Amino acid sequence: MTRYHPILVVLHWLLALMVLGALIGGAFSLDPIPEDSPDKIGVLRLHMIFGLSILALMVVRLVVRLRTPHPAPADIGNEALNQVAPWLHWMFYALVFGLAASGILMSVEAGLGDIVFGGAPGPVPELDTLRPRAGHGLLALALALLIAGHIGAAIYHQAVRRDGIMRRMGFGRG
Ligand code: HEM
Ligand code: HEM
Repeated sequence: MTRYHPILVVLHWLLALMVLGALIGGAFSLDPIPEDSPDKIGVLRLHMIFGLSILALMVVRLVVRLRTPHPAPADIGNEALNQVAPWLHWMFYALVFGLAASGILMSVEAGLGDIVFGGAPGPVPELDTLRPRAGHGLLALALALLIAGHIGAAIYHQAVRRDGIMRRMGFGRG
């Protein structure tokens, strides 16, 4: 067993793009638009649909991950790091689920479902004062840092240890 299941590979790269898109779009496009701007509802709608799609795909990925055999953990060359690496991988699932949960809580508290999807279009209430808003922002920051470390680790494996780690998250035989 040298590679992850092909479904996991497809979903890894699709989710990598989608999660990066949601982080960048959330922080640099959605957050800076004031609640009373006419653009807010459209960008919120996009963010919410995108976030809920990420949640659905991440659940599928978790189920497939738990039900398929996978390669033995890669050796980083340091026993302590070898121990924490799998936990860091599980952190991705925890952070993405936490982001989706806090996003949904925020939407329920502010009645965004009706406002954004047409049931009761109206002004978007002030979002920064909602309780789950702070959690959503902190989880997004934690996920961005985890991704930065994850990309750094992939580059380290590939360029320094030259252990072909990318192949494990790629397609093909052997
Ligand atoms: C674009 C930059 C990225 C690169 C180059 C990359 C690369 C990799 C590689 C090579 C592995 C295999 C590691 C191993 O076998 O030990 C892996 C695993 C993993 N990656 Fe990424 N990744 C990226 C982005 C992401 C993002 C944004 C997420 C968040 C959703 C993510 C979540 C995971 C998870 C959870 C695993 C563990 C395998 C599993 O649970 O199925 N990756 N990544
Ligand atoms: C699961 C992936 C998600 C990611 C990566 C993500 C990312 C982000 C980011 C980076 C921000 C801006 C944070 C800041 O600047 O402090 C944000 C704001 C927000 N997100 Fe998400 N989000 C996700 C899912 C969701 C979901 C599922 C919903 C709702 C159903 C949602 C609703 C919101 C709302 C209402 C805001 C506040 C906008 C504002 O203050 O103007 N998010 N999100």
